[in-house]
Amino acid sequence: MLIYLGCCAVLAFATAILLALQGASPVAAAHAAFAVGAMPLVFAAMGHFVPVLTRSSGATGAVRRLPLAMQAAGLLALGALGGWLPGWALHGALTIGLVTTGVFLAWVLGKGRKALGRPHPGLAWYVAALSCLMLALLVIGLGLLWPPAYRLARLAHLHLNTLGFIGLSAIGTLHVLMPTALGRPDPLVAQRLQQQLPWMLAGVGAAALAGGLPWLGLPAAVLLGGVAAATLVAWVRTHGLGRLLGDGVATSLLVATTGLLGLILVGLAQGVGAMPGRPAVAGFFALFLLPLVTGALSQLLPVWRFPGPLTPARTQLRERLARHGRLRAGLFLAGGVVLMAGSGFGVGLLAAGVLLFAAALGGGLMRRP
Ligand code: HEM
Ligand code: HEM
Repeated sequence: MLIYLGCCAVLAFATAILLALQGASPVAAAHAAFAVGAMPLVFAAMGHFVPVLTRSSGATGAVRRLPLAMQAAGLLALGALGGWLPGWALHGALTIGLVTTGVFLAWVLGKGRKALGRPHPGLAWYVAALSCLMLALLVIGLGLLWPPAYRLARLAHLHLNTLGFIGLSAIGTLHVLMPTALGRPDPLVAQRLQQQLPWMLAGVGAAALAGGLPWLGLPAAVLLGGVAAATLVAWVRTHGLGRLLGDGVATSLLVATTGLLGLILVGLAQGVGAMPGRPAVAGFFALFLLPLVTGALSQLLPVWRFPGPLTPARTQLRERLARHGRLRAGLFLAGGVVLMAGSGFGVGLLAAGVLLFAAALGGGLMRRP
């Protein structure tokens, strides 16, 4: 399931790039990447990490298949927003998305209650992320039913989803993933996760409301930017810049977090009307989501493909996926900056990075151990 969804996410990212090249609606391209690609993968990755964080058994039965329901919701949303499916498909997407997220959230909370000892503080980040997704789907549903609220509902939906759902699940996971990628302990991870969550939540809430209360834009940027910057500083202090830039996976994760910090500054410019919002959507995809997902998958796919004790086959696949990690991160960074500056040439750079990853992934997964 995890390997299938990892491959689907790469395919969805490629589809988003193709849609952008064809001049399709930017909202459709955004949902190909975010709702079809990232959303189900986040559910699958949480299904992998929640048992680790609660020291309990893995997801079984219906819970294992919930990411597929999210994939169906994402596909319906894409179909409706791209104009390929009738409008009611959007309501189907919202209903499936809300029910599935509710069931998954109940499972995560149940795991937390039954944990042996206190659950790891990373779990609260997943609870917060899933709550943001539910709220984001609820508000856009309300906006669709009550048109006067549509503008504000749309702004709340997109900020709750990008900064809240994806941002919280990403940063919550990155704290745990970075030491694993570098193979070095970081004794302050749990403390940092605990300290940062209230600031991050306040920042997401302020950004979601800033569409209606513009003065909240500055506090939102300070809070969210503070968390991203504190994470970067802690990594450099704990591991050193040389080590972070010496490994393909660590570099990707570092670039993703730096990209998020940059986008929060862009968000500040949107809040004061100095910049339109749209370029930030492509920026979020290129500067944050692409390095994040390719970096995380380079670390996690070998574990999912060869579970159990470390084997040479797992090490080989990790090496293969991480090999071009720095080049890919450079392409995503350059592509994102060029795209946000208004040149379509950036899409080519992103496509090159995604193709590099798809080739390594295809070659690596097809090789017999
Ligand atoms: C079932 C899932 C989802 C549904 C039904 C849905 C629905 C919608 C709708 C109706 C709009 C307004 C479109 C318009 O005004 O033309 C929208 C905008 C948006 N949504 Fe979603 N959405 C979903 C999931 C997500 C996710 C998971 C993300 C990000 C993580 C996301 C990010 C956005 C963004 C960034 C926009 C604004 C796009 C732009 O203006 O270019 N959505 N969504
Ligand atoms: C701290 C971070 C952020 C803050 C404070 C912020 C704030 C705002 C505010 C106040 C607006 C409304 C501007 C208006 O009145 O028209 C806005 C619009 C927008 N923002 Fe953000 N934003 C942030 C980050 C982001 C990110 C990361 C994205 C990427 C997906 C994004 C995408 C958008 C879009 C697409 C619009 C325009 C929607 C439209 O009307 O078409 N923002 N933002």
